[in-house]
Formats: sequence, C-alpha cells, structure tokens
Amino acid sequence: MIIQKTENSKLPTFDPNNFSFGDTFIDHMIICEYENGKWGDVKLVPYGPLPFTPAMMGVNYGQACFEGMKAYKDENDDIFLFRPEKNFERINKSAKRLAIPEIPREAFIDGLNALVDIDREWIPKGEGMSLYIRPVVFATEEVLKARVSNKYMFAIVATPAKSYYSAPVSVKISDYYSRSANGGVGFAKAAGNYAASFYPTQLAIDEGYDQVIWTDDATHEYFEESGTMNVFVRINDTIYTPKTSEKILDGVTRDSFLQLAERNGIDVVVGDVKVADVVAALKDGSLKEAWGVGTAVVTTRFEAIGYGDEKFALPTLADEDSFAFILKKALVDIQTNHAEDPFGWRV
Ligand code: COI
Repeated sequence: MIIQKTENSKLPTFDPNNFSFGDTFIDHMIICEYENGKWGDVKLVPYGPLPFTPAMMGVNYGQACFEGMKAYKDENDDIFLFRPEKNFERINKSAKRLAIPEIPREAFIDGLNALVDIDREWIPKGEGMSLYIRPVVFATEEVLKARVSNKYMFAIVATPAKSYYSAPVSVKISDYYSRSANGGVGFAKAAGNYAASFYPTQLAIDEGYDQVIWTDDATHEYFEESGTMNVFVRINDTIYTPKTSEKILDGVTRDSFLQLAERNGIDVVVGDVKVADVVAALKDGSLKEAWGVGTAVVTTRFEAIGYGDEKFALPTLADEDSFAFILKKALVDIQTNHAEDPFGWRV
C-alpha cells in the first residue's frame, strides 16, 4: 500500500460533542484505480477532491455501488470493525450485478484496516458514537457510450457518526412507487436505488411522513424495506421480516437481529409480510411495534404507519418491553465491546 499522510490534519477543528452525520470527513481516504483490465496500487492519501469531468460514466449511467459499515472505539481505545467480511462479500455481489470488476481484498479489507488505524483519533467514543465508513466504487471512464466502463475508482471515506434518525419516525406504505423489481438491482447497494427513492420519499414527507415503506412493484401487497432500512414488525410476541431476495438488501444489521432474536428466544418469522395483515393488526391492536434496521441507524422505531388516507399511531412501549430496543441493545453491546461476542462478529 502506498501511504501519503496529510500535513494538515483537520482533527483540531472537529468537535465530537457537536457534529452531524455524514458531513465531516476524516483526514485520509483509500483510493485504488482500475484500468487496462486490472486494479492498480492501493493508496492511502489525504481526503480531498479528485479530478473528474461531467463526462465520467459513473455520473451519466450510474454504474456505481457502495457499502456502509462502522468502526467503534471502546473505553480502552481499542477499535473494532463489525462483520467486515459481510460488507466485502456484498460489495462484490453488487459490483457483479453492475458489471463492475471484483474489488480485491487488499483494497477493501487491508484498505479499511489501514484507514481506521491511521485516523483512529477521529473515532468518537461513548454511547451511539462510531465511525461510519463508506466504501464506494464508480465508473470513471470519460466516454458517453452506454456500455460497461473500462475504468473505475474504488475509494473508502469515513465520517464520525452518532445515531442517525434516532427519533421514532412516521412511515407511509407505498401503494404506487417501488424501489426494486424482479430481475432488477434491489438486492445491490447500487447508487441508483437511492436516487430513485428520493422523489417518492419527498412526496411522503410532503404528506407529513418521514419515510416510505417500500412494497413489491407487482401488487404493492407485501412489505419489502423501509426508507434505506430492512423492516421488522411485531404482531403480539412474534416478529416478522421479509425474506431477502433479488429485490431486498441482505442487510448485515437485519441478519444480526435475526441471530440475536433466536438467541434471546424471540419468535421470528422470515417470510411474506402482507400489507393487509399489518393494517388489520394496526386496527385490532395486535401490532405492538415496527422498526427499521440498517448500519447507519442501527434501529429506528416507527411511531405511526400510514396507508392510503389512514394514519395509525403505534403504541409507545417502555424500553424493557420493546423487542426493537432489546435487540438493538444486544447488538450495540457486542459492537462496542460491552458484551461477549458469541458469534465472532467483532474484528
Ligand atoms: C446504511 O445504513 O449504511 C445505509 O446504507 C444508509 C445510508 C444510505 C445512509
């Protein structure tokens, strides 16, 4: 790895008690370029702009995908990544679907380790604090032909994070828009999936909601995801989540919640989550809670769910009665080295 350290650290200007998610970047980044059929040297360089033109394929045709992951610092200043191999595997699944060449381990895993190590002082510690890490790969060839690019850049940037959307949110069940389709790219962290979600989300915001619950494109009868998260609902004492498919992201937090639920003796059904069943449960009071999970947020509880012209308020549960809270706590305790890690997730 080629290492070029910054001479102008921005760390003295960073206030760990006063920052917002995603707009402050640590001093360094990883970059690695693909050209002539191969990936070049992995470089750790000062964070900053790169020279591209508007003719770059990634911005015209959206050949780009990314990952989201976190590093945590414990009281002894030891630093942990959470299940990084899952993100490495997933970026290559996304890349394959977008005809992007496979990202090498030296760029992704070695790059992550080097970046987190060099900028360890940037990782805030304390409850809810972490470093959010964004590996991203995009087509860089300067050509307007609509075909697979011959040049790419893989990069890793990172931003200090507190929990993001931590307040409960209101969500609107979509009966028209969808984020994915059979044979599409819904399972991938394709940049365009997020772009396509912004307009329907804006419409939901205009109606007084925070996010959209995405339903299947064919019938809109089944839950798929919520906002940028996987979705869980609890009816009586059983939790339900859609099974992953080519339309649903195989979320690392989702998978961790499922394993933790099993370990905590909570009944889980992974399968179809029918809009009609959720609405009936909202009406008869058996819907106890619903929430989304993702790396950035960990968990966001829903305070209201809208469907058509109706908006249903969810009960407010005490933390100790909430499966969302119990599972989030169990997960965060493992992530931050406050609990045993029987799964071997901490790295
Ligand atoms: C994540 O949770 O890592 C995500 O991808 C959400 C992000 C778009 C903020």
